[in-house]
Amino acid sequence: MKTIRSPRQMQSLALAWRRAGKTVGLVPTMGALHEGHLSLVRRARAENEIVVVSIFVNPAQFGPKEDYLRYPRPFAKDKRLCERAGVNVVFSPSPSAMYAEGHDTWVTVEKLSRPLCGAFRPGHFRGVATVVAKLFNLVQPARAYFGMKDFQQMCIIERMAEDLHMPVKIVRCPILRDPGGLALSSRNAYLAPQERQAARNISLALRAAEEVIKSHARVPSAKVTAAAWSILRKIPGMRLDYLSVADPATLEPLALVRGRALVAAALWIGNTRLIDNRLVRN
Ligand code: PAJ
Repeated sequence: MKTIRSPRQMQSLALAWRRAGKTVGLVPTMGALHEGHLSLVRRARAENEIVVVSIFVNPAQFGPKEDYLRYPRPFAKDKRLCERAGVNVVFSPSPSAMYAEGHDTWVTVEKLSRPLCGAFRPGHFRGVATVVAKLFNLVQPARAYFGMKDFQQMCIIERMAEDLHMPVKIVRCPILRDPGGLALSSRNAYLAPQERQAARNISLALRAAEEVIKSHARVPSAKVTAAAWSILRKIPGMRLDYLSVADPATLEPLALVRGRALVAAALWIGNTRLIDNRLVRN
């Protein structure tokens, strides 16, 4: 396994692979890898000749008061996990190489970036779309793997790739959870043991919402969110950003659920922001 830091070197290698007709799978990450990330890596390993994992804590997607500086960076451990998973290249550029002096180009996916997390994290998805566009240009992947845990992010990347005619297939990967149902996340490392225990109510709440949807042919969203809220409200000291029943294509809120819906929540436990969702078909 190779570690590459220079964007230019990454791109020359990618162009050489392309000339040799090799298919490349890319798994973009910010590191602090866990089984959720590794499930994407394994899928990429199974479907491509070459697998690249990018590890880059992208400053452009963090707000000024967010956790950019304290975000975990266990790079040596991440490299070991990648090596064991059969990754060919870890691409880990520096912020100054990705955003050189004078950098002034941004990718904005307009409508999809507004609801849900977009309403609470201004500029976040602009930072995400921009860095992913750069990674696609540097790694030239045939396929790129995104987790449904970050459902809005995945939709935004799909939209960007289609709108900008990027020759890459975006592969949706299911959410990995711990045995208690908590969606795996690098930010779970911030949780104290009791907070982690309390955080399990998030997936329970989303499951309760799913039950309501599945047991009605048509149901007002208010009834769905009420079921979820009756569980979420038990989390001590929790602060809710949103609990939404949304159209899974536009991410806009639904008044009435018939058929498919995305139930999504974002909330704070102490200083940790957690998100989770369930895609429900009734
Ligand atoms: P990061 O949070 O490190 O996540 C990297 C990828 O792993 C994302 O596609 C995310 O959805 C996926 N992932 C995280 N937890 C998961 C879980 N429990 N189950 C399945 N997949 C999971 O998302 C980012 O980094 C960044 O925004 C990035 C796309 C790299 C751009 O900077």
